[in-house]
Amino acid sequence: MTDTDPHTQARDLLTSLGTTVASEWSAPGRVNLIGEHTDYNDGFVFPFATPHRTHVALAPRADGRLRVISTFDTVPVEVAIADLDAIFPTVDGEHAVPEWSAYPLGVAWALIQAAGADPTTLTGADLAFASNVPVGAGLSSSAAIEGATASALNELWSLGLDRVALAQVGRRAENEAVGAPTGIMDQMASMLGEPDAATFLDCRSLETDEVELGFAAAGLSLLVMDTNVKHAHSTGGYGERRASCEKGARVMGVPMLRDLSVADLDRAAELLDDVTFRRVRHIVTENQRVLDTVRTLREQGPRAIGSLLDASHASMRDDFEISVPELDLAADTAVAAGAIGARMTGGGFGGAAIALVETDAVDTVTRAVEQAFADAGFTAPTIFPVTPSAGARRDG
Ligand code: GLA
Repeated sequence: MTDTDPHTQARDLLTSLGTTVASEWSAPGRVNLIGEHTDYNDGFVFPFATPHRTHVALAPRADGRLRVISTFDTVPVEVAIADLDAIFPTVDGEHAVPEWSAYPLGVAWALIQAAGADPTTLTGADLAFASNVPVGAGLSSSAAIEGATASALNELWSLGLDRVALAQVGRRAENEAVGAPTGIMDQMASMLGEPDAATFLDCRSLETDEVELGFAAAGLSLLVMDTNVKHAHSTGGYGERRASCEKGARVMGVPMLRDLSVADLDRAAELLDDVTFRRVRHIVTENQRVLDTVRTLREQGPRAIGSLLDASHASMRDDFEISVPELDLAADTAVAAGAIGARMTGGGFGGAAIALVETDAVDTVTRAVEQAFADAGFTAPTIFPVTPSAGARRDG
């Protein structure tokens, strides 16, 4: 491992506090292949774990305190475990602790809640984090830090929570400690990912199926095209989209938009205002596209899913209105340069798009997108291939 490897960085950072590393953990970010904004509507998603990971090195302490430190902010943040309850849940998005530390400390708080543990009996710990998951790129650096922390503390505290329960802990931390009203997709992908597979997840039952992708065997690569337009889901558009979906379900008389199908859209057009209708149409058709993608992959293989990826992007651009010009340009240019399909991925308003391409065409597509960004006067994108990878794990 090189010095820049985040595993080594986390270990060195912890050692620099004068402590001895007792255990090491990591969890990945995620790329969503298809199924966007469907998770908080109880729908279907189909993400996979990235090779990029957040690493944490842990050393227990005898004084019942948690100290967290990261290569992003090397000023440690320290709290007594017994005081977490006074810090969280976050009120009105105001953080009593520095923003980044609300992720690991919020996970500690949510873990204690989920396990019904007595905080005064729990062992303290120093936790040092380092990551190579790009932040703000739509690859869920937040789920990576949540998954790594939840896995580490679950074992330190002998709580015995399973991976799905740890994903739920991560989501609760994100919703109530960080204040971002997200769904559970990212945490499930980070906890459950497997190499060369994507997680087909029913967000209502939390049942999952690992579906083999077979990209490499088919001579295909999946490119991430990070537009370098940063986004944050604790502010703005994400929450508004969520509110529109809730309104749509209310007017349609169903608990969640998951309970509507494409056949209900004519009635939805009559009952809903134009904007709400288009938000609803995105969710309903996107759920169907996830089901179609899983079926198509199984029956025909990865080359056949391109048009579903393209249709998903169009729906997010036109109906859900969460794309930005950079994401549209990346997706359109990739397809024009020969990609099998392309779409923005993640929450939107910036972040990354993905393109499924012949491995032989990776350079051509990359150059075409870079050139198009230069011609448009946009900040240069960061383009790289990703291989579906393993979920959270203990590394040492
Ligand atoms: C963000 C959220 C997820 C999901 C996606 C959109 O990544 O964290 O829960 O809603 O946006 O699909």
